[in-house]
Amino acid sequence: MTKASKILIVGSGGREHALALRLLACASVGEVLVTPGNAGTEASRVTGKLLRSAAGDALEVAARASPDLVVIGPEVPLCEGLTDRLIAAGHAVFGPTQRAAQLEGSKAFMKRFAARHHIPTGRFHVVTDMAAAERAIYDFPAPPVIKADGLAAGKGVVVAETHRGALAAASGMLSGAAFGAAGRTVVIEERVQGAEASMHAICDGERFVLLPAAQDHKRIFDGDRGPNTGGMGTYAPAPLVTPALERRIRREVFERALQGMKADGHPFRGVLFAGLMITAGGDLSLLEFNVRFGDPETQVLMAVLEGDVAEALSAASRGELQPELLHVSRDHAVCVVLAAAGYPDAPRTGDVITGLGDAESVTGVTVFHSGTKLQGSQVVTSGGRVLGVTARGATLDEAHERAYQAAELIRFEGRQFRRDIAARALGSS
Ligand SMILES: Nc1ncnc2c1ncn2[C@@H]1O[C@H](COP(=O)(O)OP(=O)(O)O)[C@@H](O)[C@H]1O
Ligand SMILES: [Mg+2]
Repeated sequence: MTKASKILIVGSGGREHALALRLLACASVGEVLVTPGNAGTEASRVTGKLLRSAAGDALEVAARASPDLVVIGPEVPLCEGLTDRLIAAGHAVFGPTQRAAQLEGSKAFMKRFAARHHIPTGRFHVVTDMAAAERAIYDFPAPPVIKADGLAAGKGVVVAETHRGALAAASGMLSGAAFGAAGRTVVIEERVQGAEASMHAICDGERFVLLPAAQDHKRIFDGDRGPNTGGMGTYAPAPLVTPALERRIRREVFERALQGMKADGHPFRGVLFAGLMITAGGDLSLLEFNVRFGDPETQVLMAVLEGDVAEALSAASRGELQPELLHVSRDHAVCVVLAAAGYPDAPRTGDVITGLGDAESVTGVTVFHSGTKLQGSQVVTSGGRVLGVTARGATLDEAHERAYQAAELIRFEGRQFRRDIAARALGSS
C-alpha cells in the first residue's frame, strides 16, 4: 500500500471501532472511514489522522471514497457477497468471498467440510424433516445440540438438556417458526463438554498468522448464568490454550481448513475464527467457524497485536501475506462490555452516557463504542451492547484491574456489566 493510505471499514460495532483505531495507529495509514459507524467513529483526529463515519450503501460509499482497502466486519454482508461485489467494482477487499463465507453462513456446509478434511469436530447429522430429526436425535446417547443451518444472529443454537427438548428445538426450526429459512435445514450434533476458546487467524488463501487465544463470556450474568448475549467481555491470551495445544490447532484446524478451502476451489482470504471446545483431557473439538473477527474478541486482539496491521490485511487481500508483518506482544488485554438496561431481551436506548473521558484517562485503557450515537453534544445509548472498556497491561491481573477501574467511571441509567470477566485466568500470568 501507499503511505497514508485510506481504509474503509464496513460495520457499526465495537469490533469496527477497535479495528479503526488499530489501523489508524499503523504507519501506512492516513485515513479511516467507517460505514455506517457509530458515535466512536464520528469525525475526529486520532494521532493527527482522520477518522470518520460515512452513511449510505457500502458499494456507494466505496465508489465515492475510492479506498486503498476495504475491510468488512460483520458476517451478514460477507455471507451476502459484499466482497464479490466490491471486487467486481475494482476494490481491494480483506474478507472472504460469498462461497468461502459459507464456512459461517451454513453450519451444515461447515460440518461436512470439517469431516471431509479431518478437522476434529463432533459427530453430526444434517436433516430437513422431523422424521429424520427424530432418528438423528435418538442416535446420540446423550441429548445432542440442535443448530439452525443459516445465520441466526447468535440465537440459532439450542443446547438441549433432554432428548425431548432437542426434538422440540428441531421442530421449531424445521417448521420455519423459529428462524425462517435459516432453520429449514438443521444440524444435530454431539454435545462436547469442556471450556471454549476463540482462535483467530489472518489468512491469505494459503498462509495465515494465528492470533493469541481469546475467551468470551456469552451469558449476561456472572458465573455464566442467564440468557446468551453477543458477548459480555473477553481477555487474551487465554492460558487454556497451551503452546502444545496451539501447535495442534495450527496443524489440525487452520492448515487443514486453508488447504481444504483451496482444494475445494474457494481459497479463504480474510479472518478465520475457530470456536473450539477444549475438553478436560486437553483434546479439541471444532464447534464452529466464523469468517470474520469476533466482537468483543477484536477489542482485546487488536490490543496485543504489533506491527503494521493494515499492511498485513492488505497483503492478505492480495494473497501475499508475509507472516513477519505481525507479531504478538507479551502484554495482556481485558475487555468489559457495558450493556444497556433490558439487554439482551429488550435493550432500552437513549440513556445519556457520562464519564467516557475519565475512563480513558486510566493508563492502558481505550473505550470502544458499539451501541452509541451522538445527540447534540451528548453520547447516548443506541443498542444492547453499548461500550467495550478495554485495557492493556503487562499481566492479566494488571489489565483486569485497569479495565474494571475504568468501567466503574462510566455511567448511564441501567448500565449492566459482568464482574467476572477473565476471573478464571487471574493469577496465571
Ligand atoms: N457441540 C457442542 N457441544 C457443546 N456445546 C456447544 C456445541 N455446539 C455449540 N455449543 C454451544 O453453543 C454456543 C453457540 O454455538 P455456535 O456453534 O458457536 O453457534 P453461534 O455462535 O452461531 O450461535 C457455543 O458457543 C457453545 O457454548
Ligand atoms: Mg459461536
